[in-house]
Formats: sequence, C-alpha cells, structure tokens
Amino acid sequence: MKNKVEEAKKILLGNRKNGYTLPTNNKLYPAQWNWDSAFIALGYSYFNLDFSIIEIETLLNGQWDDGMVPHILFHEKDTSYFPNHTTWQCGKNIPSSGITQPPVLASILRKIVEKNKLNNDQNSRITKVIKKIKNYHDWFIKFRDPNKTGLVSILHPWESGYDNSPIWDQPMSNIKVDKDLNYKRRDLEVSNSDERPLKTDYDRYVTLRDQFRDVQYDPHKLYEISDFNVVDVGFNALFLRANKDLLTLAKNLDLNFDDLNNFVSKTENQILKLYDDNINDFVSKDLKTNLNIVVPSITNYFTLFANLENDQLNKKIINNLKNHNINDNYYFSTIKPNHPSFEEKRYWRGPIWINCNWLIYQGLIKKEPEYANEIKKKTLELIEEKGFHEYYSYKDGSVMGANNFSWSAALYLDLVLEN
Ligand code: GLC
Repeated sequence: MKNKVEEAKKILLGNRKNGYTLPTNNKLYPAQWNWDSAFIALGYSYFNLDFSIIEIETLLNGQWDDGMVPHILFHEKDTSYFPNHTTWQCGKNIPSSGITQPPVLASILRKIVEKNKLNNDQNSRITKVIKKIKNYHDWFIKFRDPNKTGLVSILHPWESGYDNSPIWDQPMSNIKVDKDLNYKRRDLEVSNSDERPLKTDYDRYVTLRDQFRDVQYDPHKLYEISDFNVVDVGFNALFLRANKDLLTLAKNLDLNFDDLNNFVSKTENQILKLYDDNINDFVSKDLKTNLNIVVPSITNYFTLFANLENDQLNKKIINNLKNHNINDNYYFSTIKPNHPSFEEKRYWRGPIWINCNWLIYQGLIKKEPEYANEIKKKTLELIEEKGFHEYYSYKDGSVMGANNFSWSAALYLDLVLEN
C-alpha cells in the first residue's frame, strides 16, 4: 500500500493558520478545537517540533482564569460556523466556547517530550505548558467533582468529543427544549444530513448552551443547574491516564504535583467499580436521574489507555474488545453493530474514528502487543486505501464527513513513524 507520510504532513500544513491548525480544510470547523489540537501537535512533532509546541501554547493561551481550557477557540471572527463566538459570548484572551473537551493534552505532551531532545528554550516553554495543564486538571477536580468522588462529570455532550453518541440518549431525553430557539445550523451546508446529528440533538445542545450562558458560565453554578450531568467511563479513563502522565512529566522536571496522587488512586478504584460483572461491561452514570447507562461504545475501551492496574479486568476488557467487531474487515465501529442504537453513518453512532483506534492501540501495546499491532495495521490500511477522512463505515471503509482531516493525518504520522 502507498505510504502517505508526505501527504499527511501536507494536510497538517495546509490546515495550519497563525499558530494553530483547523480540524479540516473545508468549512465544517473553522476554529481551533481542544483535543484535535493535542493530536495535531503529536503529528507535527515528527517534522516540526516548533509547530507542535506552538499548537499547544496557542490552545493554552485560551485558558480561562479558573483553569478551564475551552473546547473551541475562535481565533477569527468567522461566523460561518454554528455555534460561533457571537452565540457563546465568552472567552478570556480569545473568544471561546464555555465548555471543555477530553483532556488528552498531558498524555500527548508526555509522548512528545519523551521522543524528542528539547533545547533550553523548548524546555522552559514546556515547563510553562505543564504548569498550565496542572491548573486545567485542578479545574476538573474542583468543579467537575465537587463531591470528591474521584470521577469527573461532563455537563454537555460536546464535552465528550463524541457528541451524538447513544451514551447520551437517555440523559438528553430529559432536556426540555426551549420553545423559542432561534438558530441556524451550518454543518448541513457542507456535509450529508444522514451523517450528522439530528435536529432534536441540536435543539438540546443549544438549550443547554443557553442555560450555561445565562449563568455566565460560572463553574459552580454550571454544575448545579445543568440538566445534563454524566459520569462517563471513557472520559474518566482519559482523565485518569492524563493525570498519570502529568505526574510523570512533573517528576522529570522536579515539579511537585503530589497532590494529584490521591485523586489518581481514587479514580482508579472508582473506574474498577464501574465495571459490572453481571453484564460484562462498563456502566456510565447519569447523575441527574441516578440511572445507569449501558451502551457498548468503543469509548469504554479508553479504559485500556488508562492502564488500570488490574490484569484480570484488563483481560476481560480485551476479550470484549475482540468481540466488538468480530469478523469485520474494518474496525472499530463507535458502537457495537448489533446494538439497537447503532447507525452505520451517523457520526458518533457507528462510524470508525481514527482517534479511537489510536487510543485503544496505545492502551494495548504493552498488554497484548500482537493484537495491538493488528489494530495498527488495520488502521494504517484503512487510511492508505481510503484517505484522510473524518470517519469511515465499518462495513466497507467508505468515507464520511470532512476530507483532509487533521487528526487522521497526525495520528497516521505517529503510527507510521513511532519507531
Ligand atoms: C466534532 C467532533 C469533535 C471534534 C470536532 C472538531 O464536534 O465531535 O470530537 O473535536 O468536531 O473536529
């Protein structure tokens, strides 16, 4: 198969603006996104370490005083996207959204630091970055786990990064949509409606966003008033791993972040408890209704990325993963295909996403190298055969969403060049 390293680099450079990189070169996402930028920074680290550090610095320039790093930074006053900066009405140095996204930055940064020789200037810049990430993690612990449970909540599906996942169907069904919502979606002008979230989803997203804007995004109030409050397995697994990686980064720089240790061990214990042996799967929690959420989502396998210190459970998780897309040529679908909520084409309800495959691969390298390499091979083949798209059908690999998608290119570079 054709090696696409040069093409991947070109995609990143082509999507690059002043100090940050767009998720794609079409009109779908004209801003900087939090977890996209982290993945993108890893891609740059293979051919331009400076771009990689700048990408991260720019993202952190948008950090709020309370420590939150927004999910979107609107560097340009572009209003072709909905919801754009005029509808969020917030941001510190940079107009932004008022919610966050999966905190994968520390884990990515650790990879970048361990693979590269940094000069003095880069070292001191990275030290600043690490301190800001610590504030970000402290913000999560303080405001998203106010009851000190060891698990953090997300207050909007967009915070998960897997926006319209069936995991949110039940908690979102409780949201009473504002009667006089007045907004215009832009995503449908540039992509197929059957590959995007539904109108009911958007009505609820916007209703929540309006609630948050009404309290000026005050983090204490947000936790209290949000009609959506979910402890998600995948999200907490990413945060656990990020805290572990942040501790490693700090140790190497003689920074003392020891106060994190307590939270890490609490999270570790709590995630183990989210595994239900009777159903052989993880359970997320809807804190508004106290109901359990059981959806066979690929994001539950981010628990592999968390490196849980429990071999027995890890084995169970790996066995389940092997049954997720059993006998399929292409994997991993976001939702197990035999589940009633599965939809082949609709965004986070079925398609394959490269970042999910990548996170799972990372989680498996040490635990089951052969299987990990099989996943890597499949993921590379998919990209080499079909190109750098946003998402793909698990049935035949057909492409969907945006083309020239930055994180697909960045993670491709990491998979091909990591050794
Ligand atoms: C969508 C995705 C999200 C991603 C963003 C930019 O909102 O759901 O995960 O970060 O697009 O690519």
